[in-house]
Amino acid sequence: MSLQILFSTSKSNEIRTAVIPFFNKGELGKGDWPVALGEFVRYALKVNSKYKGGVGEILDLVLPDAPGMDGIERVIVLGLGKADELTALKAEQAGGKLAVHVGASGVSSAALYVEEGAVSPSLKSEELAAALANGFKLRSYKFERYKSKPEDEDAKPSVFEDLQIIYAGADSARDVYAVLDSATEGAYTARDLVNTAPNELYPESYAQFIKDELKPLGVEVEVLDEKKMLKLGMGAIMAVGQGSEKPPRMVIMRWNGKKNDEAPLAFVGKGVTFDTGGISLKPGAGMGDMKMDMGGSAAVVGLMKSLALRKANANVVGVVGLAENMPSSRAYRPGDVITSYSGKTIEVLNTDAEGRLVLADCLTYVQRTYKPKFVINLATLTGAILVALGHEYCGTFANDDSLWAQMDNASTRTGEKVWRMPLDEAWTKMVKSDVADIQNIGKEGRNAGSCTAAAFLQHFIEEDVKWAHMDIAGTAWRKSDQATIPKFGTGYGVRLLNELVSYYYEG
Ligand code: BES
Ligand code: MN
Ligand code: ZN
Repeated sequence: MSLQILFSTSKSNEIRTAVIPFFNKGELGKGDWPVALGEFVRYALKVNSKYKGGVGEILDLVLPDAPGMDGIERVIVLGLGKADELTALKAEQAGGKLAVHVGASGVSSAALYVEEGAVSPSLKSEELAAALANGFKLRSYKFERYKSKPEDEDAKPSVFEDLQIIYAGADSARDVYAVLDSATEGAYTARDLVNTAPNELYPESYAQFIKDELKPLGVEVEVLDEKKMLKLGMGAIMAVGQGSEKPPRMVIMRWNGKKNDEAPLAFVGKGVTFDTGGISLKPGAGMGDMKMDMGGSAAVVGLMKSLALRKANANVVGVVGLAENMPSSRAYRPGDVITSYSGKTIEVLNTDAEGRLVLADCLTYVQRTYKPKFVINLATLTGAILVALGHEYCGTFANDDSLWAQMDNASTRTGEKVWRMPLDEAWTKMVKSDVADIQNIGKEGRNAGSCTAAAFLQHFIEEDVKWAHMDIAGTAWRKSDQATIPKFGTGYGVRLLNELVSYYYEG
């Protein structure tokens, strides 16, 4: 059974573990837990003077067999830090820590008590309840499709299944949570896609997945196959995919929440289902990680799912370019000159700089077809962004200050961090070719690799179109657990962009 999160005004009888939030330096509040339980916890807090109740800090106590405990045998004190510094993000982190703790402790259900009334000046208590639940779910994500039998039974005596949030205003907390959960569900889908093995997820199967997943939610899905793309003259995405047995696809997803023909917001994602580097072959070590090279497209698919789940009042179009970059006798080569959908010719100098080629045709397509209000693309585009910013920040290039400011704010609100990177005429020139219109790598080799990649993309942005490029090579995939993100596919971008749409574009 999968995780269930329920909001209720009272604990159901079979639940034997209580979770009580606690503020650093605070008094234990007046939650709806049994009086005897409160007294026991106050006593335990006094004895455990080392316990400070920092964000996510846990004190796990077994209760004495005493009367008046309402069937509760165990109580987990969950730290929330200082009351006046509490934010939704910190509450999510505490929820994530709780998920790890109960998962390791063998508890299969728990009741988390949230006090009514102002628990913190900065966060309403229903928001606190919803954020705790959301962090719990974000961290509870598991991808076990390829395990032929469950993990070691002894190590994991039970799976956590049932979280009850006990809160007097359960109905309002449930409503707040439902909105957060649509973004979390989208992030789950993005994580699943990134974690799926590349023999299973290739352009055709990926396009089919998108149809199966999004059409039932009311998203229109259109798939351009290789014949259609060749006919349209999409020479860039076609070149990247030509070395593979598996032909490329472009998938267009439309969510018309406004029910009118207002210009849509556009999101474009790089979907290289596996990146060997092609003829400019990558070294073998760690190459398996390049199944994550479709992380940008996964974020766009996850975003479309989130918008549809919460029936967003916005017109949005998502476009993903799906191709597999393989070396073969049919593969494109360094030295090839290709003609992109825009008509611009591109000299290929390195077949491993393939993402920008895939994106080029998608960017042209979405601008020509939809005249969007803005275009934001996401791509695991360069190793250089990892050198610059590591895994914590997504390098973001924007040609418009107001769009950047909106993204920056959506980032702060969701905790998906962005750092603005420069666009500059110098790099625009550095991708001009002596042979064709432009070339797919900069003239200075590795220097400013993320910036020359962005400058390449900018050649495909039409005059006056607001545009941002998010290089998620560092943030889409991590090899260590984070407070609310288990390792591997992170789903980065879904929550930030969902927040951008909801905060600024649904009026
Ligand atoms: N998919 C890679 C970028 C990448 C690297 C993503 C590491 C995630 C982790 C991209 O297609 C690529 O190979 N970029 C090259 C560009 C170079 C040839 C100009 C790179 O970064 O080395
Ligand atoms: Mn590459
Ligand atoms: Zn790539």
